[in-house]
Amino acid sequence: MRHVVIEQGRMEIVLAPDAMTACREAAARIADYMRGAPDPVLGLATGRTMEAVYRALVGMHRDGLSFARCRTFNLDEYYPIARDDPRSYHAYMHEQLFRHVDIVPGRTRLPDGAAPEPERECRAYEDAIRAAGGIGLQLLGIGLTGHIGFNEPPSDFATRTRLVELDEETRRQNAEMFDDRWQDVPRRALTMGVGTILDARCLLMVATGAAKARIVRDALEGPVTPMVSASALRQHPACTVILDSEAAGLLRLDR
Ligand code: GLP
Repeated sequence: MRHVVIEQGRMEIVLAPDAMTACREAAARIADYMRGAPDPVLGLATGRTMEAVYRALVGMHRDGLSFARCRTFNLDEYYPIARDDPRSYHAYMHEQLFRHVDIVPGRTRLPDGAAPEPERECRAYEDAIRAAGGIGLQLLGIGLTGHIGFNEPPSDFATRTRLVELDEETRRQNAEMFDDRWQDVPRRALTMGVGTILDARCLLMVATGAAKARIVRDALEGPVTPMVSASALRQHPACTVILDSEAAGLLRLDR
């Protein structure tokens, strides 16, 4: 595994030979954080990339890693959507992670995609993160539009948890869960803002596969701009980006 440090030593890029190694490395870092923190507060992400990360964490749980002391906050949820809708991120998290580990029910939280008053739900979500002491480690994927969470371009770096409109490209990217009918993907979502994400003490982004190479290059080596919300990561004091060789394929890495 190759390690490259960029942005005046603030961002660490880890180059893994393949997607499986990248996801296992991410899981190992999450486990290190969980073991080291007295009250771990994990920020969690969804998407296909994360499935292998959660699989690795479930494997580590079977080998003794406990989630009992963890609190979790997810980045985002579709709006509107029922919690028990199998296409919701609530259902995704239950399937991929929560039901396999010893996490305490009631200590996991996602924005409520069925909240009758979304603005109130967003404020309550921010309050809950603050009451938990803030997020210690935030896991992130990246969308083809450069989004983190569902922060589509343009997203000001000061944004907080809010209701957003999804780009058509994002709805197409996420159509698989909706029987490949992108028109059925909800048009809106509740997401932590870029500012909410930047408040986490450590950030851990994972991107794998050739389809992500262009946006990874834009985010890490293009301008820092609200047009690519993942470029905000370069302003964070403690961010690690784990890439497989395909996702890293267009990086110059000459800094
Ligand atoms: C969704 C999530 C994002 C995630 C993205 C990447 O859009 N809201 O948080 O980063 O998916 O998904 P995938 O890993 O499937 O490429």
